[in-house]
Amino acid sequence: MKAVTWQGRQDMRVEEVPDPTIQEPTDAIVKITTTGLCGSDLHLYDPLTPFMTPGDVVGHEPMGVVEEVGPEVTALKPGDRVVVPFNVSCGSCWMCDRHLYSQCETTQNRESGTGASLFGYSKLYGQVPGGQAEYLRVPFANFLPVKVPDGPSDERFVYLSDVLPTAWQGVAYADVPEGGTLLVLGAGPIGDMAARIALHQGRRVIVVDQVPERLARVAARGAETIDFSEVDDVPAAVRELTGGRGADAVHEAVGMEAHGSPVAEAAQKSLRFLPKKVQELMMTNMSVERLEALYTAFEAVRRGGTVSISGVYGGAADPIPMMQIFDKQLQLRMGQANVRRWTDEILRVLEKDEDVLGVEDFATHRLPLDAAPEAYRQFRDKEDGMVKVLFKP
Ligand SMILES: NC(=O)c1ccc[n+]([C@@H]2O[C@H](COP(=O)([O-])OP(=O)(O)OC[C@H]3O[C@@H](n4cnc5c(N)ncnc54)[C@H](O)[C@@H]3O)[C@@H](O)[C@H]2O)c1
Ligand SMILES: [Zn+2]
Ligand SMILES: [Zn+2]
Repeated sequence: MKAVTWQGRQDMRVEEVPDPTIQEPTDAIVKITTTGLCGSDLHLYDPLTPFMTPGDVVGHEPMGVVEEVGPEVTALKPGDRVVVPFNVSCGSCWMCDRHLYSQCETTQNRESGTGASLFGYSKLYGQVPGGQAEYLRVPFANFLPVKVPDGPSDERFVYLSDVLPTAWQGVAYADVPEGGTLLVLGAGPIGDMAARIALHQGRRVIVVDQVPERLARVAARGAETIDFSEVDDVPAAVRELTGGRGADAVHEAVGMEAHGSPVAEAAQKSLRFLPKKVQELMMTNMSVERLEALYTAFEAVRRGGTVSISGVYGGAADPIPMMQIFDKQLQLRMGQANVRRWTDEILRVLEKDEDVLGVEDFATHRLPLDAAPEAYRQFRDKEDGMVKVLFKP
């Protein structure tokens, strides 16, 4: 089959790889019909290079049709239409029982000290072949895949794999009081969707980014916007809009490649000249990530407010302003989305006749799998108005 594979820093290639097969009696094989490109894939494209192996099949936002099931699969049959969550979670361990699916104890990666395995997400997260491919092996098929009805387009449902539950969890964790304001940092797919969800829930939303077409999309849905390239002091601008106090909660949807941290950006780039083993050690033991968006979050949230972090960070020794966080009495909540925790609730919203979250025209680009190498670069460089890419294998 054809699959998008990581071959080196900023080098994704579509290659022929062996078709996946049933390995456990509870596996299913899914023929992928639509599969997303995510901001998280951009971390693999460059900064997480030390944890990648040439040939890794990437992608973690797939949906499709069940092709084959193992002998113990009773919840699905060939022909069923499913969306596959990005966490590989068993559904029956101690963590899964508590809906902490991104911490699943059956697939936890104890050697690398990380949580549940993720599809297509480096050896840090189990090196599980990903979903930017023609077929995907899906373990725990009696629990993991989300069955969706036939009829509506793939676009109605595909974001259940990641964008919707991540944004939903980000907003839930932000816990904005009624009548309160949510500040969303980043207007990529995650921040954009979080803004839509919070607006749908009746909250006031302010979104910060610097990409004009991304800000225009959220403005069209009713959010107020701040272009950080035009404002010297984003937290001050937020306070001005919120009676001098700051936002009740901040949802951080930027992550380790934030703009505005020139020193960390240089450190991230200089890493690439070191041997791979040293890079790996440095990534896990030093601060090489860009914390600009986090610093903005701590500044712009009001005292006693909540900072909910969806952006992915990977440093083990990042300088964090503890005095400010403690003195302002902030609550911090974060983590990979527990996808299956939220999908039933979200599916009920998606099944309404009206497309309340605007998912059907959320994608800006629909491309064949062969276009992936160029799409990764364009998405990273925010060219051609690219906000969300869906591949159609
Ligand atoms: N927690 C999870 O489960 C989960 C799931 C999916 C994605 N993510 C993470 O969420 C983050 C966003 O993902 P995405 O797909 O929307 O990616 P994206 O890269 O398209 O979006 C990030 C946006 O942040 C903006 N930005 C950069 N620096 C900024 C700053 N200092 N202030 C405000 N905005 C800034 C960029 O212009 C861009 O529009 C990524 O880190 C991704 O890895 C996490
Ligand atoms: Zn994703
Ligand atoms: Zn589990």
